[in-house]
Amino acid sequence: NRRERHIYVANWFFLAFIITVAMLHVVNNLALPVSIWGSKSVQVFAGVQDAMTQWWYGHNAVGFFLTAGFLGMMYYFVPKQAGRPVYSYKLSIIHFWALIFLYIWAGPHHLHYTALPDWAATLGMVFSIILWMPSWGGMINGLMTLEGAWDKIRTDPIIRMFVASLAFYGMSTFEGPMMSIRAVNSLSHYTDWTIGHVHSGALGWNGLITFGALYFLTPRLWGRAQMHSLSAINLHFWLATVGIVLYAGSMWVSGIMEGLMWREVDANGFLVNSFADTVEAKFLMYVVRGLGGVLYLAGGAVMVWNMWMTIRAPQARPVTVALPAE
Ligand code: HEM
Ligand code: HEM
Repeated sequence: NRRERHIYVANWFFLAFIITVAMLHVVNNLALPVSIWGSKSVQVFAGVQDAMTQWWYGHNAVGFFLTAGFLGMMYYFVPKQAGRPVYSYKLSIIHFWALIFLYIWAGPHHLHYTALPDWAATLGMVFSIILWMPSWGGMINGLMTLEGAWDKIRTDPIIRMFVASLAFYGMSTFEGPMMSIRAVNSLSHYTDWTIGHVHSGALGWNGLITFGALYFLTPRLWGRAQMHSLSAINLHFWLATVGIVLYAGSMWVSGIMEGLMWREVDANGFLVNSFADTVEAKFLMYVVRGLGGVLYLAGGAVMVWNMWMTIRAPQARPVTVALPAE
């Protein structure tokens, strides 16, 4: 019954985000009431079936919240800020449907070397590797939207934030498929490498694109000509970027180190390191991670100040809300 002929691609991503995150919450919480007033209920799935179900849908949190939701933002704000149309509408449709189709199969990569049958984990691994392609389709579409406007990276700190965000998206969606390979996962699982991967995506991709969107929206929502201070945006960009690099870099080093230490055996086959040895060895890397987090947070504080000053500035023009033409 839809009357709107054309739905802009950003809205497809938001739609997928809303539906699949709802699905995640519904299926992962399925329970049978076992008392009359429903005060006690038991989960529908148990054991390995439960683990499989939890991750099958749980991976939607990555695929449809941290990816599709933010790709929706990307498809709106990057073209707006660059003043250019999306590089390829066809590519956006192809990679949208490829992401939708592939993401849901990737969940078992969280369950390598568990009671889950090997074939199921292999299935998750294969789909995760294929997922690299549509992920980069989105990154390329975002970056290429700047074609003809590349000089803005130098002059516009908001565009710079979007570009860095897309670069982190590309990086974490290259790393993810690699970590889903069983042999690589045998090293990375349970270690800080996973934490490094999480935060290059969360702080780099999700964080930076959110900051860029807030900088885009604030002056428009309050009818101001522009953000109070462009150099404060620039400062935020550098605080955030250096923070992420310290955070992710330290977690890669400590993750791979602890993974290798856990594996180390002597000539008789005995483990060389105790768990406490690995914790001690990671100390310095945790200090670096802490510093990275503080820098990232400080960048956030600069942004809040900048937004506050923008809102307090005298109004430059009346607030107008553009409604879509009938
Ligand atoms: C093609 C894309 C991606 C693939 C194939 C992928 C794959 C993986 C793999 C194999 C793990 C480790 C599982 C384990 O050993 O327990 C993992 C963990 C994780 N990834 Fe990704 N990843 C991708 C993209 C992303 C992105 C873009 C984000 C965030 C924005 C993200 C967030 C996470 C999170 C939060 C975890 C940790 C889950 C937990 O708490 O155990 N991933 N991913
Ligand atoms: C200054 C910013 C942040 C700092 C300092 C920070 C710090 C941390 C720390 C210390 C952990 C525990 C890791 C461990 O088990 O060793 C963690 C876990 C996690 N964080 Fe963050 N975080 C930040 C921002 C974010 C953001 C913005 C997101 C999401 C968009 C996020 C998503 C996650 C997730 C999903 C985990 C669980 C990872 C796992 O156990 O597999 N974080 N974070």
